[in-house]
Amino acid sequence: MYSCPRCGQLAELVLEMDPEEARAWPERWRARLPGRDAAGRSGVWRFSELLPSTPAGVEAVTLGEGGTPLVELPQLAEELQLESLWVKHLGVNPTGSFKDLGMTVCVTEARALGRGVVACASTGNTSASMAAYAARAGLRALVLVPEGQVTAAKLAQALDFGAMVVQAGQTFDEAFLLLRQLAPRLNLYLANSINPFRLEGQKTAVVELLEQLDWRPPDYLILPGGNLGNVSALGKGISELADAGLVTDVPRLGVVQAEGASPFHRMWSSGAEELVPEDHPETRATAIRIGRPANWPRAMRALLRTRGLTAAVPDSEIETAKRRLAELGVGCEPASAASLAGLRRMRQSGQVPAGTRVVLVLTGHQLKDTAYVEEHLAGLPGIRRAEPTLEGVERSLRGWL
Ligand code: F0G
Repeated sequence: MYSCPRCGQLAELVLEMDPEEARAWPERWRARLPGRDAAGRSGVWRFSELLPSTPAGVEAVTLGEGGTPLVELPQLAEELQLESLWVKHLGVNPTGSFKDLGMTVCVTEARALGRGVVACASTGNTSASMAAYAARAGLRALVLVPEGQVTAAKLAQALDFGAMVVQAGQTFDEAFLLLRQLAPRLNLYLANSINPFRLEGQKTAVVELLEQLDWRPPDYLILPGGNLGNVSALGKGISELADAGLVTDVPRLGVVQAEGASPFHRMWSSGAEELVPEDHPETRATAIRIGRPANWPRAMRALLRTRGLTAAVPDSEIETAKRRLAELGVGCEPASAASLAGLRRMRQSGQVPAGTRVVLVLTGHQLKDTAYVEEHLAGLPGIRRAEPTLEGVERSLRGWL
């Protein structure tokens, strides 16, 4: 059951905790570094106090996810007049995106329930991740993707891990609607972010981040939004840590959408109480080309709880942001760079004031969309052809060396 049959709201897991006991958690978590716990080196299961328990005898399905880098970018902080700026790179996970953090918990639950087929609709990263964890668990994987809208790398991952890939529809929203209707008919276990177990794993990103910052929270935590599962997850994590008394200053969540696929930004910035879907979402950042985000009520709660903010950015600004990160040695896929593009806008508008501490969440790996790089070579030294002789190569470098 993914939603309540009475009110229709998506299901959510509620953490029961004793704040007295919670005070000892950070010490316990540190003692488990570098993650040599029962689930083996996983940076997600290290935070087991915050996760649903599995029945005795069911082992976690893990690929050693989590434990991702936090990289400080002092030049960019200065440029944007911030006290500090970091990127939390969730693209450095086993299948190259943040999805792995949730998938380890979700597929573990599928195993605990004795399910045979896991399924998702996807713009590419969820499918790559689900296919990997399904393979690890010995389950079958079914993926529905919009036709011609998923990068070659992401498709290749799902295929490589042995998933059945069905191309159906022009958008993620179309594929997802189909899958939600098919799931009960075909007895499929849904691994999209409407599955509450996904969010449980994904929320650990914020716990790990706070640990890396010695429990001094940033003022802002900014991430790209598509189906809005990740902002819901991070919001849940922040709330639970606050309830446990482990943080007092709660970071404000910032959601950045691509301008052509920004129904949540439109809703939030206009003060509307209902989301108006975008029927023809359009952006080159295909990972977040979503017009009908299923998690918007959860995301709204997360923003209300954290006094959050939103921005919408055109593809041209995503490109500039991706280029700036690459200049600093930080690679990511286009959708991830939306967080920096959004931060720039939030600084210009004054929504994020100067002198604050900001963390950008990078969601996917640079190699997820290599065609994007080939399409955006203007202004880079780029690639030249040379005759295979010393003189030939030297000649080709004229004007550069
Ligand atoms: N960044 C990347 C790289 C993504 O793949 C996604 C979502 C998002 C951001 C947005 O996260 O949906 O939780 O708001 N990708 C999904 C997929 C939809 O199918 O891979 P969200």
